Amino acid sequence: MIKSAELIEKIKSYEGPVIKLNDFFSTQEIQTMTQWSEQCFSNKSVTSTRLQDATATDNDLTGHPVGELKKQICDFLNKKFSPLINKNNDLNIEFDVAFHANKKPYGIHTDSGYDSEELIYKQGIIPLINKPDDKKTHTVILKQKCYHSSSFPNIKEDLKAQKFVELLDFSTSLSPETYKKYWKCCPDREKQMRGFTIEHPFEWKIKDTVIWDRSHIHCSSDFEATGVNFKLGLMWISRIIN
Ligand SMILES: [Fe+2]
Repeated sequence: MIKSAELIEKIKSYEGPVIKLNDFFSTQEIQTMTQWSEQCFSNKSVTSTRLQDATATDNDLTGHPVGELKKQICDFLNKKFSPLINKNNDLNIEFDVAFHANKKPYGIHTDSGYDSEELIYKQGIIPLINKPDDKKTHTVILKQKCYHSSSFPNIKEDLKAQKFVELLDFSTSLSPETYKKYWKCCPDREKQMRGFTIEHPFEWKIKDTVIWDRSHIHCSSDFEATGVNFKLGLMWISRIIN
């Protein structure tokens, strides 16, 4: 579903730079959020798998908390982030949250929302586990933006999806050194990254976090590029309710 030009202009008026926060959470808060993830994943009716059928042993899990647990998490995030994303306390912000336990990286996409009426706002990722902990993984926030929910799963589909992407830049290509830091050597992957440039490569460090506009296209770094084999994060998105 496509958002109107007026709504996109309104969304843009609330946009700002990526906010990186070091040591933003305490050890206790990380423990609490990890416990919340366990509580969520223990409820099979709110847990879904990704990429493979349910019998696979290396499935990625997504947990969507509901009821009291969701309320508890959203209240916590609201309290933590309001001083940053609602400084004057004049916005009515609604949060949505999901736990992602991944053994494979997420591709290029936006979480801009399927609702064409939605005033999308900020989103963020809170790293909870990164294994092995001496290997680096990144959520790479790209400069390019899209105001509709979009994904770029392969080069053929990507070219179609690109018609809604703003700020594509085919004159600046990623240097081989930069590319290698985040993505595996693969001609198709390299082709997919053409036109995209990096706004902020957020390195997963437990207790750090990052906030960005929901229109920003983003992806995970490839696990094979650095030797990471598992990560667990709390992902949140927000919208402004009028
Ligand atoms: Fe995302």
